[in-house]
Amino acid sequence: MHVEVTHPCVQHKLALIRDEETGHKKFRELATEITMFVCYEALKGVQLKEVQVQTPVGPASCRKIASDLVVIPILRAGVGMMDGILDLIPTARVGFVGLYRDEETKIPVEYYQKLPVESENALYIVVDPMLATGGSMVATLDMLKQKGVDNIVVVCIVAAPEGLQAVEQAHPDVSVYTAAVDSHLNDHKYIVPGLGDAGDRLFGTR
Ligand code: PRP
Ligand code: URA
Repeated sequence: MHVEVTHPCVQHKLALIRDEETGHKKFRELATEITMFVCYEALKGVQLKEVQVQTPVGPASCRKIASDLVVIPILRAGVGMMDGILDLIPTARVGFVGLYRDEETKIPVEYYQKLPVESENALYIVVDPMLATGGSMVATLDMLKQKGVDNIVVVCIVAAPEGLQAVEQAHPDVSVYTAAVDSHLNDHKYIVPGLGDAGDRLFGTR
């Protein structure tokens, strides 16, 4: 299942972040802002618990988030979504998965992994701005499931239909939340129209 967040504020920011004239400072700010909106949607179904709070006027029955939230950015571009998620859920724990796509084969190569200790009531939010072939995301979800993690959502900024289909096929229980579903992948497996190379645009490396 996937959800495209079509809110006008998100669409406006997408127009800005896609623009090739947008430099890395602005690109980072927009990635943070778009991530907040998409993550907000992704957390709609999160578990709540009843709490009592004393206001200056009297007792109030309120609800707080019950799940232990764990954010997993896929290095390197996923780091560009961290600020947006942590602004929304500052108490989230963070684990890292390092993957890059081999330039020739486009197959993901894992180079780093550091996950927080597991808890019983955790929701894992895997973040990566680009879901292209889906290879990097499926590899990350495979790894998390092998470790016993079973409650996962994905948050991205731009997804290709090919990537959505790959995740849906390999992990039908994982919902993907994205700001855009684009047209297709080009011969270099880049998303069209996409954003270009998200890591390079975030960090100014090319
Ligand atoms: C990009 C992106 C995803 C991956 C998507 O990372 O951030 O992780 O490609 O492609 P896929 O769906 O076909 O696997 P990249 O490999 O460029 O590494 P980087 O984040 O270090 O720049
Ligand atoms: N990685 C990117 O950064 N952009 C794409 O379009 C595909 C993979």
